[in-house]
Amino acid sequence: MDSVQVIPFVGDLLDNVVLLLQQSLHADPISRSLFVRKVLLDPNFDPEGAPVAVMDEQVVGFGLSIARRLPLEDAPPDWDRGYITLLAVHPDWQRRGIGTQLLRRMEDYLRSQERKLVLVSPYAPNYFTPGVDVNAYPGGLRFFLKHGYQEVYRPVSMDCNLLNVRVPAWVQHREQELQREGVTVEHYRPQLIPALFRFLRAEFPGDWQRFAREAIARIEQGDTPTRLWIAHEKGEVVGYSHFEGERFGPIGVAQSQRGRGIGQVLMYRTLQAMRLQGLHTAFFLWSDDRTAERLYNAAGFVETRRFALLRKEL
Ligand SMILES: CC(C)(COP(=O)(O)OP(=O)(O)OC[C@H]1O[C@@H](n2cnc3c(N)ncnc32)[C@H](O)[C@@H]1OP(=O)(O)O)[C@@H](O)C(=O)NCCC(=O)NCCS
Repeated sequence: MDSVQVIPFVGDLLDNVVLLLQQSLHADPISRSLFVRKVLLDPNFDPEGAPVAVMDEQVVGFGLSIARRLPLEDAPPDWDRGYITLLAVHPDWQRRGIGTQLLRRMEDYLRSQERKLVLVSPYAPNYFTPGVDVNAYPGGLRFFLKHGYQEVYRPVSMDCNLLNVRVPAWVQHREQELQREGVTVEHYRPQLIPALFRFLRAEFPGDWQRFAREAIARIEQGDTPTRLWIAHEKGEVVGYSHFEGERFGPIGVAQSQRGRGIGQVLMYRTLQAMRLQGLHTAFFLWSDDRTAERLYNAAGFVETRRFALLRKEL
């Protein structure tokens, strides 16, 4: 199609690009404010990696690829890889080669940044979804497979009706036993900060420290301290759990402490705190089937979305 032009993103196209995303990605409400925060304010955003397809002055397609420039806290380096976090073509203009042109442009960009591997789309911290939603966008999945991408695994997103949440008796007993064993589970207080960050650096290096830092800053400015639950033993943090609005997580227990029921106790404390805030729903965007079986199913979480996380070597 010769009348389609593919150009790097420019600020004046903001509203048209956001409208295009709203029209094409029907399962993902993307407001202008969300786009500004996740895309334009991202220090790794580069307009060259964000091609816009324009036809007769209309925006008909958009793609977003990211090559990280700034390291993410203590996360292992990912200089060898790039990410594609958005790709959309207006429904009236699909299957005419526009998506292919946008993809080619993004892959060329990532090659120019010396990336050897592309992932769709687990880019911390600013991913939209952990892959292509296989139910909402089956055409999107076929598109990537046709272009040589392979599935890595299928992350699951789940929702929970908080009004039905009851803490099972065994979890209550387990919590009492843990207490006797010397494990305390309590909500955030600033005295726990040094041990919390020691734990996060060792066990979950990367984006979780930023999550905790931002949550604590908000708590210190007036948010409820029950947003953050901490399990500790002998001065060391062994687990933590968090919510923000209806979004549940992250939740994590130290590797050596798993299997003691600490994750269950943290999860129910957090869900209970959410209910007491008046929330009706808890959801998370990204987990795996094993964790769903071990933790979430019993609490009443049900699958709402299923993604295919994809990879391709360049
Ligand atoms: C995925 C998407 C960006 C592809 O853009 P496009 O311009 O339609 O793609 P192209 O015309 O370059 O390539 C078309 C190929 O993609 C695949 N494809 C795209 N849409 C498809 C559909 N609805 N059903 C089956 N295959 C589809 C096919 O392999 C197709 O080749 P074919 O037409 O020869 O069968 C576009 O369909 C879209 O915006 N979908 C909704 C959002 C989405 O899924 N985004 C990706 C996940 S974030």
